[in-house]
Amino acid sequence: MPEALTKTFYIKTMGCQMNVYDSDYLAQRLMAMGMSPVDRPAKADFVLINTCTVRAKPEHKAATFIGRISQLKKHKPHLILGVIGCLAQHKGEELLKRFPAIDFAAGPREIEKIAELVQSGALGKRKILATSLDQPPPSLGIYNGYYKGKVTGFITIMQGCNNFCSYCIVPYVRGREVSRPPQDVIEEAKALIDQGIRDITLLGQNVNSYRWEEGGEIWTFPMLLKKVAGLPGLWRLRFTTSHPKDLSQELIDCFGELDNLCPHIHLPFQAGSDEVLKRMNRGYTRKQYMDLIQKLRLVRPEIAITSDVMVGFPGETRQDFEMTLDLIKLIEFDGLFSFKYSDRRGTLAARFEDKVPEQEKSERLQLLQTIQKDITIKKNKSLEGKEVEVLIEGPSARGKQLSGRTGTNKIVNFNCDSSMIGRLVNVYIKVAYASSLIGELREPLIESQ
Ligand code: 5AD
Ligand code: SF4
Repeated sequence: MPEALTKTFYIKTMGCQMNVYDSDYLAQRLMAMGMSPVDRPAKADFVLINTCTVRAKPEHKAATFIGRISQLKKHKPHLILGVIGCLAQHKGEELLKRFPAIDFAAGPREIEKIAELVQSGALGKRKILATSLDQPPPSLGIYNGYYKGKVTGFITIMQGCNNFCSYCIVPYVRGREVSRPPQDVIEEAKALIDQGIRDITLLGQNVNSYRWEEGGEIWTFPMLLKKVAGLPGLWRLRFTTSHPKDLSQELIDCFGELDNLCPHIHLPFQAGSDEVLKRMNRGYTRKQYMDLIQKLRLVRPEIAITSDVMVGFPGETRQDFEMTLDLIKLIEFDGLFSFKYSDRRGTLAARFEDKVPEQEKSERLQLLQTIQKDITIKKNKSLEGKEVEVLIEGPSARGKQLSGRTGTNKIVNFNCDSSMIGRLVNVYIKVAYASSLIGELREPLIESQ
């Protein structure tokens, strides 16, 4: 690829935090090679679309976006267009055929190869499909200064999944579980903290499965968590996602032991009926899930619990669904991500008969979301009139105020000078809604930089 054509790049990121991390990694690699990021695809010589395929909806969203960007190439023939991420892994070949504007499709494990391809000048000369799942995760991705001005950051500590839940495409698109060396994670955390990051989330499809063996030494997830928590200058530490079947007492105890481990856990339960959980191949029962919640609340009473749930899994009866609603009412999650079951080609559940009709799935989802919304509002309202600790992250979604989060991961918006971004402050909560809290800055600052 001639040098003049590869100066600017734009990365569109869809999907989960893992994709955000991968996009940031790539951006840093490209910048280290002398390319510069731009804020709109129309200004770029190189556009990367990082996609998700976990359900039909994100897949459609990605296809729509690819279609739109393909149009750009009509006016700008030298534009290099790459589709990366999970949809590229799952359906890369189809995408290359359906969208002739695409130059390459590369899966999540091929992220390092993209940088190599750019460097070798191979892009744009022929169509490339890169979907090997053998590569280990890339190592240090720090381009000094990339995170300047940011307050929160992610670090992928492991990727892939060995669980094979019957509905899930992830093991097929992100491959088997591979952990990163603890030294790399620690170095990366230090580099983020040096650049001003105060709140780090450790990422993995199943962080509890983190494991590293070297020279007779074994690192487990709680060990890594404790090590990162001890780094000077790190005010807040989080992790996601945990699998209920692997949530050990040792990890639960960390919530009582580590001051900077935020009182929040995202623990997907997926369904409230044992029958459905079994067919999902989740490896735990409703009772075991409820017991875990009880243990977490015992160790850290203020802990916020969020979860993922699905309605309309094949064979889900009305009674099964009622069990899910019942569990939601019993646990009272702080927040819940809820989805209609969606067939993913190649998974076991896609071959199950007795599919729930689309209309029925929609009705169940709506009912579930109405019930959860009342619970979320009730929980948030309990904070009205109280002071909470907020780390200020940046402008609010509407841009008029500043926005930050509590340790329990609730968004708080309030009036404040932008010079305060990155500070940890006390905020008095005036009004609570389902998705955010409105507050008032209170002195004194808890901590300053
Ligand atoms: N259909 C619907 N929801 C799904 N999820 C994963 N696979 C599917 C599927 N085939 C949901 C799960 C998971 C979240 C990331 O997406 O709830 O926890
Ligand atoms: Fe993330 Fe899974 Fe979507 Fe891939 S398929 S982007 S791992 S949510």
